Amino acid sequence: MKTDNTVWHAHLVTKQERAELKGQKPCLLWYTGLSGSGKSTIANAVDDLLFQQQRHTYLLDGDNVRHGLNGDLGFSDQDRIENIRRISQVAKLFVDSGLIVSTAFISPFQTDRDMARAMLEPGEFIEVFIDTPISVCEQRDPKGLYKKARAGEIKDFTGLDSSYDVPKQAEIQVMTAKQSVQQCAQQIIAYLKTNGYIG
Ligand code: ADX
Repeated sequence: MKTDNTVWHAHLVTKQERAELKGQKPCLLWYTGLSGSGKSTIANAVDDLLFQQQRHTYLLDGDNVRHGLNGDLGFSDQDRIENIRRISQVAKLFVDSGLIVSTAFISPFQTDRDMARAMLEPGEFIEVFIDTPISVCEQRDPKGLYKKARAGEIKDFTGLDSSYDVPKQAEIQVMTAKQSVQQCAQQIIAYLKTNGYIG
C-alpha cells in the first residue's frame, strides 16, 4: 500500500441491484491452460453464445490485455504474477458491475488462481481448465511460438522451460482435443444454466 490516506467509498447502487437489472448472476469464468490450448477460442465462443442470449458479458483476453494495461510486463514468474494480480482486480470490478466476465490467460500458478478466487464471493469464481495436451498445443502452434521457443528464440515458455500447475479442483474441465469448439462452449453454457447463473 503506497498511501494510508485513502478511504473506501461505498456505492449507492449495489452489485445486487446491477445484477438484477441485467437478470443474471454475475460471475467470473477464469479460463486457464497452455498457450495454444484454445482458451481464447472457447472463451470467445461462450461469450458469443451468451451475447446471443442477450446476456451482459465482457471478455478480458491475455494477448489483448498485454498490449495495454499490462504492456509493461514480460514472462518472468514475477511478471506473470503481477499480470494475474492486475487482471484479478479488473475482473473483480467487472463482476461488481453485474457482468458475466471471462478471462483467458495462461495463469500458470495455482496460488495466483486461488488468490483471484479468494477475492470474489463464494460461487462467483468458476475455474475453467482448458485441458489440451502440450503435444496437441505444439502441433497446433497457431502463433508459431512453440517453434520459436524450441529454436531458443523465446525463453521462459510455458510448458517448456516455465512451469504450469495443472488445476486441482477446476469447476469445469474442457477437453478440446476430443470435442469441437461448439461442444466445449455448450458444456460451459450448460454449467452456467445448471448452477443458476443464467435462466
Ligand atoms: S500468463 O502466463 O501471464 O498468464 P498470458 O496469458 O498473459 O500469460 O500471455 C500468454 C500469451 O503470450 C501466449 O498465448 C503467447 O501468445 C504469448 N507469449 C509470449 N511469450 C510467451 C512465453 N514465454 N510463455 C507463454 N506465452 C508467451
